[in-house]
Amino acid sequence: MNNTYTDLVKQTFDFPQEGFDINEDKHLLFNGLDIRKLIDKYGTPFKLTFLPKIGMQVAKAKKLFNDAMKKHRYDGKYYYCYCTKSSHFSFIVEETLKQGVHLETSFAYDIELVKALLKRRKITKDITIICNGFKTRQYTKNIAGLINSGFKNVIPVLDNVQEFEDYKKSIRSKDPVNIGIRIATEEEPTFDFYTSRLGIKVKDVLEFYVDKIKGNSRFQLKMLHFFLNKGIKDDIYYWSELNKVLNLYCQLKKICPELTALNLGGGFPIKHSLGFEFDYGYMVNEIVSTIKNVCKKAKVDVPDLYTEFGSFTVGESGAVIYSILNEKQQNDRETWYMIDSSFITTLPDTWGIGEKFLLLPINGWEREYQEVHLGGLTCDSHDFYTSEEHINAVFLPKIDKAEPLYIGFFHTGAYQDQLAGYGGIKHCMIPSPKHVVVEYDKNGNLEDWLYAKEQSAQSMLKILGYIK
Ligand SMILES: Cc1ncc(COP(=O)(O)O)c(C=O)c1O
Repeated sequence: MNNTYTDLVKQTFDFPQEGFDINEDKHLLFNGLDIRKLIDKYGTPFKLTFLPKIGMQVAKAKKLFNDAMKKHRYDGKYYYCYCTKSSHFSFIVEETLKQGVHLETSFAYDIELVKALLKRRKITKDITIICNGFKTRQYTKNIAGLINSGFKNVIPVLDNVQEFEDYKKSIRSKDPVNIGIRIATEEEPTFDFYTSRLGIKVKDVLEFYVDKIKGNSRFQLKMLHFFLNKGIKDDIYYWSELNKVLNLYCQLKKICPELTALNLGGGFPIKHSLGFEFDYGYMVNEIVSTIKNVCKKAKVDVPDLYTEFGSFTVGESGAVIYSILNEKQQNDRETWYMIDSSFITTLPDTWGIGEKFLLLPINGWEREYQEVHLGGLTCDSHDFYTSEEHINAVFLPKIDKAEPLYIGFFHTGAYQDQLAGYGGIKHCMIPSPKHVVVEYDKNGNLEDWLYAKEQSAQSMLKILGYIK
């Protein structure tokens, strides 16, 4: 038989590939992990975090930037910051901290998270905390609180000029306080708007610096920040925005020697299909050499480089595993496989913005395949998944009565719980699934543990006011 699911994958992609293989039982291995065994132990549906992937990602980016800096004799440092909003879970943030990263925050409550990390002795007051976002009064107050309590490297990044007034009132520090400015970027012409609502317009930055910051002994401008909605991509928009920011950096640097940092934001892509190709090394090399060349031409020192990768840090550590409950033939051509959860509860980006994730069966690789539609348990007509990143269809093994079919969506570790809300009430009350974490123990063996059980009906009834 040469129309098995294994044949399909091998004819379409290079397989096996980094992170994905099958074992002798024809069961999927995810980073060497036998998912079928976890299914036997925990039952589906469940979310999975494979913690070691986080360290691999951080090490990869650090190496790429440090190698490129060495190659181009770039006289600056690279700082890897983790953007907490992509996954705030303690076991995730603490894993990133083990890799020596710094942090980026987005809202007032993030500062409470930083304080909790200090209390748990996971950080010291020397860590760099980059505070981004449009700030509420509570957020600026909390940031000022961190600085006033002795955190030495907190960098509030101004989203707008008014924000600065808040810090002037609330920060009491003997030493000058470092601040950053976020530059409002232009989006691609295909996007819904031209200029980001976040940040200060490029043409207003110089004037703002000269009028408000220069000569102020309590504050100094240390960082320029920019972030493109579409992420770091080798296209004309990325390079034109980078050059715009670099020109501004060079102009400012001549009158503001304290400006030593350029924050490239987040936006490194991750693998959403076995066909994914992105040359991270080329991209980092081009970024570093472009910055070096522009600064050399302008005769100014190069900046230290900061990134705030969210998806790249945590995305590839996550997966969601489901069983196919039933097959429904709704007309001559459309076969539905019903999953034992909801895409809205577990992968809201697939429902909300049509995001694709890497989908593979856990078993059944020796069976014939067919085109299917995947359906979630809610009554929402959009609770489905019918196309992949590389093809406008979904192919999976046929159902076999001898053994249920299990499937997994991979590289789902960023933003999905934050968007769906972890716990809480859910569409049609489809619960948040259990969450399994896998990591290495002290002896270097993989161990798994249950971070959270499936959400109970009682927890929802309580929120809904049926029980106290
Ligand atoms: C300011 C800022 N930094 C970093 C990130 C992280 O982006 P990503 O998860 O694509 O790396 C975001 C995402 O929205 C952001 O707005």
